Order: sequence, then C-alpha cells, then structure tokens
Amino acid sequence: MISEELQSARKFEEDYLPFASRLPLFHVTAGIGWINDPNGFSVYKGEYHLFYQYYPYDTKWGPMHWGHVKTSDFIKWERLPAAMAPDHEYDRDGCFSGSAVELPDGRHLLIYTGVRIRRNADGVNETFQTQCIAVGDGRDYEKVPFNPVITEDMIPEGNSVHDFRDPKIWREGDEYYCVAGNRGADRSGEILLYKSRDAFEWEYVSTLAASHDQYGKMWECPDFFSLDGKDILLVSPQEMNAIGLEFHPGNGNVCLIGKVDRTKMCLEAVSAQAIDYGLDFYAPQTLKTGNGRRVMIAWMQNWETASCKIDELRFFGQMTVPRELSVRGGRLCQNPVRELENYRGSRVAYNDILISDETSLHGISGRLVDMTVRVRPAGEGGTYKWFRLRVAKDGERSVSVIYRPEKGTIKVDRTHSGFPHDIVNVREFPVSTHGNELKMRIIMDLYSLEIFVNDGEQAASFVLYTPAEAAAMSMTSDGNVLIDVEKYDLSFD
Ligand code: FRU
Repeated sequence: MISEELQSARKFEEDYLPFASRLPLFHVTAGIGWINDPNGFSVYKGEYHLFYQYYPYDTKWGPMHWGHVKTSDFIKWERLPAAMAPDHEYDRDGCFSGSAVELPDGRHLLIYTGVRIRRNADGVNETFQTQCIAVGDGRDYEKVPFNPVITEDMIPEGNSVHDFRDPKIWREGDEYYCVAGNRGADRSGEILLYKSRDAFEWEYVSTLAASHDQYGKMWECPDFFSLDGKDILLVSPQEMNAIGLEFHPGNGNVCLIGKVDRTKMCLEAVSAQAIDYGLDFYAPQTLKTGNGRRVMIAWMQNWETASCKIDELRFFGQMTVPRELSVRGGRLCQNPVRELENYRGSRVAYNDILISDETSLHGISGRLVDMTVRVRPAGEGGTYKWFRLRVAKDGERSVSVIYRPEKGTIKVDRTHSGFPHDIVNVREFPVSTHGNELKMRIIMDLYSLEIFVNDGEQAASFVLYTPAEAAAMSMTSDGNVLIDVEKYDLSFD
C-alpha cells in the first residue's frame, strides 16, 4: 500500500523533475529538492541501489523521506520514485538515515530510524528515535507491521533515548549485524552493536566503540567493515574540536582502524584519521561489490553550509563520486571507482613543463574533468615553497589549490569563487611527498571539486559555487617547478 504522503512525494517528482535545473553529470542529486546522507547503499539483484535523506518540496531540510536511485556502474544513475515517506506513528516526524541488505528470499530490506517528537510535561519538545524496517522489490517498499524493531529499551542503561539513530546493517555468515549511533552517559558518541538471525528480530550485543569526548559528541551515521585485514569504523561526529590539521571543528568525519576483540565485541582502535579533508563531506556509507571491492559514497556537503544554495539551482546537496577503499601503510585510502575511466573523452597531456610565473596551458581547462598533475622541483637541488593550481577560473573568480612541500600541506581556498556569503572557504590538510613528487588527481563535475592525493592517501571534497562557465585553469609557483599534467574531459553522451 502506498500511503498518501508517499503518493504526494511521487506526484511532486513526476510534475517537477522535468523542470530540474542543470544537474551535475555523475554526482547524485535529487534533481529537485533537498538531500543529505546517503542511505541504503547496497547491492540488490546485481545492481547498486542508493537511497538518500530527502525532502522533495524545498531546497531546505524538512520531514525526511527516502529518495532512490540505482546504477550498474556507480557513474550513470537511474532515478526511481521516492521509496519512503514519514507516514506512520513511529516515524511521523521523519524517516532518518539507515541502510539496506538483500534477503535470501529475494526481498530488499531497509532499516532506518523512525523519529517522533513529543511534548513533555514541561512543554518542551523531545525527540525519540527507534529503528524500523521496510521490505520491498527494489522500487516499492512496505513498512513491517511490528515496527519499531530496535527500541529504547535495547540500549545500555543511562544512554540517550533521544539520540539513537542511523543503523548500518550487514550480513556475516548466518547472522545479521547492525551498528547504530548513540550518546553514552557522558553525552558523547557511542556505537552500539546488535545482531539478528533473520534481520527482523534484534538483540543488543555490545558498545563497539565510544568517543569518551575525544572525537566529538553525538556520533552519527556509523559504518563498520573489515578491509585488508583491519576492522574499520567510520563515524560522523557532531561538535568536534579541531585536532591539528587532521580534524576540523564542527561536524566532522573520523575513521578508526584496529581489530575487534571478539570476546568483548569491542573495537580496539590503533589509529584515527579523517576520512576526507575537504570542506564538504559527511555521513559516508559503504557497500561491498560482488567482486569484493569496498565502495564508499558520502554527502558532499556540510551542515554548517546547509543554507548556502546556488540561487539558480532547484536542488540542494549532492553525493561524492563513489570511491574504492583500501588500507595502505595503516591508512584508509580512497580513489574514484575505476568505472569513471570509461567516461574519459578527449585527452590533453604535457610533460616536464616548467612553472614559475602564472601559466595557462592550451587545452588544460574544464568543469567536467578527470585530471592528474604531478609536481616536482626543477633540476638538482631545485626548491620551491609553494605551487598553486587555479581552477574554475574566469576574469575575477577562481578556486586555488596550494601545495607547500616544506610544510607538507595542501590548502584549498574558494574565497574568491564568487559566492557572496561569508562561509568557511579555506581548508588546509597534511599530505606527504614521495621521492620529491606530489601527485594530485582532480575530479570536477560542474559544481564540485574532489582531490585525490598520492593515489588516494588523502581525499578532499568541495562544493564550488562559481558559475559552471568559469572553466579556465592556471598554475604558478614561487620557485621553479616541473609538472606533468594529463587531462581528460569526461563525456556522458
Ligand atoms: C546526519 C543526520 C543523521 C540523521 C539525518 C537526518 O547528517 O543528522 O544522523 O539520521 O541526518 O536527516
């Protein structure tokens, strides 16, 4: 049965999607309306499905629905009708984030947070969050009659019943597991682990990890998986404090790498790193492909800039390019899915070009590009303090990517990109130089810039507010730098 609320969202999509503004070519958006977190990123009947936090009726956050797209290569997406609307008592104030799994009987199961707001005796609104299930066929989903399936009484004593959300499910042998974000007695983030035989009836197992106020307060949108012999937990903390250049303040993103102690079912983390160092990255979610690749997608936005819409666009929020993960040298590394290379069109390449003054190279431009730049000092003992690449450039506007080899950082600055609001525009992050050389892969899709440094040791994602026509690029340095550059225009005909 399709509820009135869902019908109305689907009707709105049918009526207004044809009038969507110019859209990114391979980054998922709603077309019309608002999106935030990726949800339900999963393999179902051999295709990759992605849902997302969605409010179709405006470019601002509102009562959360789940939007839906699918793909067979992570690059070309097909839009499907909205999958869920807040239409039951237990989720009437929102169908918050969650995940999906294919059941052995061929159904697709969605597990998500149902939100209810209740006024307490003092007249203050309080939010209650429980985990709920819907099952379907890859297009239409039915909420199960026994929702919610994980309730307030299944969390440790003293933990918050108000912040308990974003279940991420996976199957391991004959059992299903799921992790969800919560606040412990100290009000900072905890990740709770649950298990089930059939994915419908759940029991609490353990607190898998806890912030203890080290990495922010509430931990949102957890994901947990094993990769290259390590156990990995991804979380998106609220209210983080900055730590060096590794973690910025506010809504952040943290990857904990370690090993699960199987007797306590608790993650013994040995390292913590940022997942993405850009201004716009939150709530990543992963899936495992049939051939064993771990692929991650995230909201390419930040809550701090959630009201910063480009006027002429009818959508707000987009996803990152899906990224293949690996662990190298103890670090989580990421690169765009290899399928992106199938969309490489015309190529322009230069080798050993000396950069000192501002230089533009013929054919090195574009806003829909896959470009790799290698930077090294010119000649024996050559030095330089900085190298700057400008992209999305026209007469007055540009976005700068500045590499400082001695400091070991890249700084991205969109202050002069032409967006007339005083939002956070600069982010600097640590990088390594290998054998005197730095390699940057730059992916652009009209309104975004994603940088992958040294084959994915660091990634950094940015929304670009500059009109898509600003497509020039140039390079400068304070010394003598040699670069190689290879640029492909991406083509989707
Ligand atoms: C993270 C988040 C989730 C929540 C959703 C609501 O961005 O706050 O914790 O489920 O967004 O839209």
